[in-house]
Formats: sequence, C-alpha cells, structure tokens
Amino acid sequence: MKHETTHSPASHVAVIMDGNGRWAASRRKPRSAGHVAGAAAARKVVEEARRVGVRTLTLYAFSSDNWQRPRREVMALMRLFRRYLLAETERCVANGIRLRIIGRRDRIAPELLLTIQGAEKRTAGGKDMLLRVAVDYSSRDVIARTAMAMKGTRDDRASFAAAMGEVDGTGEPVPDVDLLIRTGGEHRLSDFLLWECAYAELYFSTKAWPEFGPADLDEALAEFARRNRRFGAIPEVAAG
Ligand code: IPE
Ligand code: IPE
Ligand code: MG
Repeated sequence: MKHETTHSPASHVAVIMDGNGRWAASRRKPRSAGHVAGAAAARKVVEEARRVGVRTLTLYAFSSDNWQRPRREVMALMRLFRRYLLAETERCVANGIRLRIIGRRDRIAPELLLTIQGAEKRTAGGKDMLLRVAVDYSSRDVIARTAMAMKGTRDDRASFAAAMGEVDGTGEPVPDVDLLIRTGGEHRLSDFLLWECAYAELYFSTKAWPEFGPADLDEALAEFARRNRRFGAIPEVAAG
C-alpha cells in the first residue's frame, strides 16, 4: 500500500526575486522604493525558509547584467544591500544562518566588500541554514571561467562543481537546486544557476517580489512536494 508522503521541504530553494520595479511603478513610487519593499520581503521569506527546514536558500539579488541599469538605481541597490547585511547579520547569527555571497567580487565597492566579508565571517558558525545571496552574479560567467580554469584536466562533474565553487567565491561545491521560484510573472532564468538547475523543479508566481510572503513560499513548497521527480529514470512504481 502506498503511504502518505511525509512533508519534506526542498533541500535547496533558489529564488529569482523579480518585479520590484513594476510593483513600485504601479504605486507611483520610484523603483528604489520597490527594492526597499523587496528587501523586507526577503527578510520574511528567509525566516520562513529556515522555520520549515530548507537547508540552503539562494536569492538572486543583482545580476551581472543589472550593471546596465541607470547608475542611480545601481547605487540604490548597492546601498540597500549593505544596509540589509548590516541589519541582518546578528539576526542570522541568532537563528543559526550562515551567510555567503556568490558572484564576482572584483567590481564591488570596497566598503560593501568589507561588509560582506564581515557578515560571512560573523555567521560562519551557522548550522541551521545556508543563505546564499547572489550579487554581480552570472551563471555563464561562472561556468566559462571554471571551464578555462580546468582546461586540459580530465575531471568529472563532481570536480567541475567543486571548481565552480572556487570561481563563485564560496570555495564550496555548488549545490544542485531542488526548487527554483521566480516571481514577477516572467518565465526565464536570466543567467541564474544554469548548471545547478539541471533537474530543478520550476515554480513561477505572478506576484511581484514585494508581495511574495511566507505563505507563498509554503505554497511553492507544497507544490514541490506534489511533483514527481524522475531524473531521467523510469517513474517509481508503487510497491506491490
Ligand atoms: C528585481 O526586480 C530586482 C533586481 C533585478 C535587482 P526588478 O528591478 O527587475 O523589477 P522589474 O522586473 O523591473 O519589475
Ligand atoms: C533577474 O531579474 C535578476 C534579479 C532578479 C536579481 P531581471 O529583471 O534583471 O531579469 P530580466 O531582465 O527580466 O531577464
Ligand atoms: Mg526584473
């Protein structure tokens, strides 16, 4: 007889937090106000992810292509990011959350870089959840640079994933994504975790990121629990 599936949340959840600008525009506010509201939404979703037992949460905060945005918006995002780290670091420590930033570091302003390094060091002992925030992140860039670094070696996928972790700044093998969530109504990856999402379950929400709350995360996780993952094999047959 088939027994009830126990509710085991996705181990690695990744989120493309999209729709801040449109959320703000629809309220006649500047785009930066949308980003401020987006940071508040992130805080609550992080808390919920940890509460329900997600082991790794990766948030897409700023893509390498986002440098193309007006300087004012980029500056506002970077300021906000630094403020978020300063405000959240102690909360992460209190909640057993280890914080890591993934992406290029060579184009990050020195002040922000120091804050990043401080937050990573301060939260290094966190055992309950790993919170990865992608800043100046491009998945193609990580893959391409890893390929160049490994040129001529005859290694397998596991060592490639490990080498990608050296390139993305964490020094830890990149984890496969179980559940990828994108808010804001778009159905694309926008250069996020291309390798890691090989067998990710995809979940799209029409809600703008500032409106996406803990209950929406729960709903995405419930939908994930109903999916049948096969990884290319034959569907599991009920034992009989
Ligand atoms: C996502 O919201 C946040 C970042 C990309 C930094 P957007 O700023 O892309 O908002 P929309 O997509 O323009 O509404
Ligand atoms: C992806 O959103 C990047 C982040 C959410 C940080 P974008 O808004 O930049 O993606 P596109 O331009 O719609 O593909
Ligand atoms: Mg967008």
